[in-house]
Amino acid sequence: MIRNSPSIPKYTGKEWEIKPLDALSFDDVLKKVVGTVTQTPTHPATEIPACLVNSIQCGDSEFVLKQLPNNSVDLVVTSPPYYQQRSYNNGQTIGDEVSVEKYTDSLMDVFREVVRVVKPSGNIVYNLGDKYVNKSLLLVPFRFAIKATTQESVILVNNITWAKSNPTPRQFDRRLVSSTEPFFHFAKGSDYYYDRDVFFENKDRERLHKASPKIGQGYRQKIDGSDLSAEEKRDAHQSLDKVIKEAQSGQIQSFRMKIRGVHAEAFGGEQGGRNSQIRDRGFTIIRLYGRAMKKDVMHCAVESVPNIRHTAMYPETIIRELVKMLAPDNGIVLDPYMGSGTTALAAMREGRRFVGIDIEPSYCELANNRISNYINRNA
Ligand SMILES: C[S@@+](CC[C@H](N)C(=O)[O-])C[C@H]1O[C@@H](n2cnc3c(N)ncnc32)[C@H](O)[C@@H]1O
Repeated sequence: MIRNSPSIPKYTGKEWEIKPLDALSFDDVLKKVVGTVTQTPTHPATEIPACLVNSIQCGDSEFVLKQLPNNSVDLVVTSPPYYQQRSYNNGQTIGDEVSVEKYTDSLMDVFREVVRVVKPSGNIVYNLGDKYVNKSLLLVPFRFAIKATTQESVILVNNITWAKSNPTPRQFDRRLVSSTEPFFHFAKGSDYYYDRDVFFENKDRERLHKASPKIGQGYRQKIDGSDLSAEEKRDAHQSLDKVIKEAQSGQIQSFRMKIRGVHAEAFGGEQGGRNSQIRDRGFTIIRLYGRAMKKDVMHCAVESVPNIRHTAMYPETIIRELVKMLAPDNGIVLDPYMGSGTTALAAMREGRRFVGIDIEPSYCELANNRISNYINRNA
């Protein structure tokens, strides 16, 4: 990545001026200081300084991130510049590298800082686009994800696919139109904040209803007629009583029971665990929660926002869902490549706080206006 461009002042250790959001001037761009940055990964959780909360910092993201304390951010959700797609900062920044290897290295320079500033319970989501060179896909996002998981201490929780319902309309004779992009969900450990139920909860089509008083009674005869031992039968009846109560009180929508020697065995995956329950305990109970399965595919149109001139916006709809699922109420959501301010807006609408960074003063101003308009409309 090309650094020390004339528009990016070098950090000298002196305090820069910090201005509140509504007084931002983008003439002398970079502003901030957040005390000394320690590189110790075990640094105790610290707070983002109040002056940076709900602000946009205009500058190089790696440079600005270095000023933030360790373990201070709940969620990073972002979309870096894609490889050789568009030029930002007069071609003096990430995306303009001569090779994809160098590009993913540049992304990693920032990712390292992102991992440092995220809390141990925090989450990181990166959205990236692919690129054809000599008619062949480079698999750029996956090259990055492999570097991220091999060079940093993170796990890759999901590769969530954004399926675009309205990709750029063009036709190719000898290939299909690309209409998906990955959103990689990383976490620093297995104890990450997660609220799966709120993710696209509007898509939970089936509604919970109280089950009929007769639910599950057919299983009683099947248990009694099975070759389960007396102890296994007692256990099966007790578990059946419990799950019937859950269904009748509306905690679950319904359930299925599988009994050894009565029902066919299941195959593979989670079903494998069920088979061992059937083998070892004589039965298994599958609870049906009556909600849509949360899958790793997000169907969403490419959104355009009137009067917002940024060529690479991601949909606010998706970011709001990720923010709800992956950051607690009032948590800090950081976007090191803020662009038009989509992440900030999504965070505000969902009752979270934000910190945004972008290298282009004009985008910082655009995002600032977008946020100010939202605040004014809701004042
Ligand atoms: C793909 S766009 C992000 C768009 C954003 N998600 C939105 O919805 O508007 C990438 C952004 O990264 C910014 N950028 C490029 N290099 C940067 C750097 N070194 N530090 C900070 N921002 C950078 C660009 O100015 C651009 O706005």
